Amino acid sequence: MNTKKYISIFISLILISITLQAKSGEADKLPVVIQELVPAPAVPAHNIVAKGGPKVIKVRMSITEKVITIDKQGTKFRVFAFNDSVPGPLIVAHVGDYIELTLVNPKKNNFEHNLDFHAATGALGGGGLTHILPGEAVILRWKATKPGVFVYHCAPGGAMVPWHVVKGMNGAVMVLPRDGLKDREGKPIKYDKAFYIGEQDFYLPKDDNGNYKEYIHPGDGFSDVLEVMKTLTPTHVVFNGSEGALEGDNALTAKVGETVMFIHAQANRDTRPHLIGGHGDYVWPNGSFNDPPRTNLETWFVPGGAAGAMVYKFRQPGTYVYLNHNLIEAFILGAKAEVKVTGKWNNDLMEQLMEPTRIAD
Ligand code: CU
Repeated sequence: MNTKKYISIFISLILISITLQAKSGEADKLPVVIQELVPAPAVPAHNIVAKGGPKVIKVRMSITEKVITIDKQGTKFRVFAFNDSVPGPLIVAHVGDYIELTLVNPKKNNFEHNLDFHAATGALGGGGLTHILPGEAVILRWKATKPGVFVYHCAPGGAMVPWHVVKGMNGAVMVLPRDGLKDREGKPIKYDKAFYIGEQDFYLPKDDNGNYKEYIHPGDGFSDVLEVMKTLTPTHVVFNGSEGALEGDNALTAKVGETVMFIHAQANRDTRPHLIGGHGDYVWPNGSFNDPPRTNLETWFVPGGAAGAMVYKFRQPGTYVYLNHNLIEAFILGAKAEVKVTGKWNNDLMEQLMEPTRIAD
């Protein structure tokens, strides 16, 4: 290689480093907004179509290690949670925005944690730059370049990765295209409200009598839990942290004529959402908003480690069941929710023409 080539490589490197500096400086000049994170099934207030140019979206998440009740029998389980909730809160941005996360691991916690954003680029999704011990905080900024819905989760390393994830340390990010969502003809897709469902598989050890074991100390049960995890057979599959979390008084609600987005995240295990009595009008099964949505699906697939999105306009009132259509996981292990829809019944779409009537044989 001659001197001329060396000089040109040297100049290129300088130019690249200047460009990189300019880019990182760009984020510093952008307007800053603070996004208030809310527990699922709620989603942060947002516009489908971005207003104005890119922004820096500041969010803050604190990590909790605490015992919660995860089923209707009152089974207790120690979860690790982003912002005190399983799943962790949804973050919403538009392509070109920057997410600036302050992650806090309070002193009273017992474990090291971090955060891998599937929506982010580099350093293990930020996992490599966010390891914090109890009593530490860290700030990570990343640019949202890919439109879609994405999982995030704790990933401290080794067996700690799945252990923390199946203790509830996962959530989702939605990155909308700046000009909103489109169908395959390029027509805008809008929604009146959005629900965020985090599906969680739990693996609880049982004692000799078949009862779930409870542990007093934070790390207790790790080896027992690991044995159950290795069976790949969860004891619980629930929405939003516990069986029944989105049923009865806590059911999701909508009105006839309303268009609702359902964001469904599963950080560890495959799932197959289904709305009984309705359809997926528009579905992005793997969550990429760059792909045209699939239409009129009965059930869609969300692979473990992904989030998917579905948009449906309710046409009939009543109680719908939104579930994982492995019906064993839904009705026995807990993966189901209710959507209570008010409005006027449409006989044209469905009508009972004869009530159940006794017949002679
Ligand atoms: Cu963790």
